[in-house]
Amino acid sequence: MNQEIALTAPATTARQERTSTTLPAQRVSTAAQTAIINIDNVVKTYESGSQQVRALKGVSLSVERGEMVAIMGPSGCGKTTLLNCASGLDVVDGGRITIAGADLAELSDKTRTTFRARNMGFVFQTYNLLPVLSAVENVELPLIVSGVNPREARQRALQALETVSLRQLANNRPAQLSGGQRQRVNIARALVNEPDIVWADEPTGALDSKTADDIMQLMETLNREKGLTFVIVTHDPAIGARCNRVVRMRDGVIVSEESHK
Ligand SMILES: Nc1ncnc2c1ncn2[C@@H]1O[C@H](COP(=O)(O)OP(=O)(O)OP(=O)(O)O)[C@@H](O)[C@H]1O
Ligand SMILES: [Mg+2]
Repeated sequence: MNQEIALTAPATTARQERTSTTLPAQRVSTAAQTAIINIDNVVKTYESGSQQVRALKGVSLSVERGEMVAIMGPSGCGKTTLLNCASGLDVVDGGRITIAGADLAELSDKTRTTFRARNMGFVFQTYNLLPVLSAVENVELPLIVSGVNPREARQRALQALETVSLRQLANNRPAQLSGGQRQRVNIARALVNEPDIVWADEPTGALDSKTADDIMQLMETLNREKGLTFVIVTHDPAIGARCNRVVRMRDGVIVSEESHK
């Protein structure tokens, strides 16, 4: 592993315990304890002018706590839509999504936003860094949304930047960082709350192969050492091969799955 981005933050303990305290108690069901993500027959249709686009046509998928799953498939097959729906960024037209026992549809918008900020991290190209904020200010945003006080938020954001070996560039704005460094800030922001689940949409898509490998190694280390669950959309078969499972989509449905370990 590249020393430059070796994991330096102390290991987190009692993930399970922490999560259950952040979830509304009445929504935690014992039935969904094994799978942290439960996607059941989800349908999503977009209205585009007079046309309807059936982006998800009944997708079901369960992901175990601590799993690293790759979602692959041709452009337009519904991968980003699935991530948006499964994380509660977008609403579904049919089916059910349960995260750590919480049915997303039963949460109010406000509760869902807080739930996301506390339990999930996002490495999305479209969910980008805010250009007017420095790296550390970008990273501390999810903490501020979660209600963490500013002083503690700053300290934890600096620690997250240290995890991705960028503490020395904490005051740089995104425009003053390389593409790979920006993606590392994205990852620091996704991890700052020590989420249970990280959703990544082509996290290495815009990077050269060496930087892509560094980012993948960082995610693998976090998965192995901190037990984070990763769902990674990728076009890169080499990334897929390093995940526990590859789920292949085509035209709004899952067509195959293969397990690696
Ligand atoms: N907001 C939207 N309004 C209308 N149609 C949409 C919208 N978002 C996605 N779509 C359509 O839904 C389908 C699935 O799109 P999605 O972005 O999920 O594909 P994808 O698998 O992520 O593709 P890519 O690999 O190119 O990122 C496509 O036909 C797309 O045009
Ligand atoms: Mg996409």
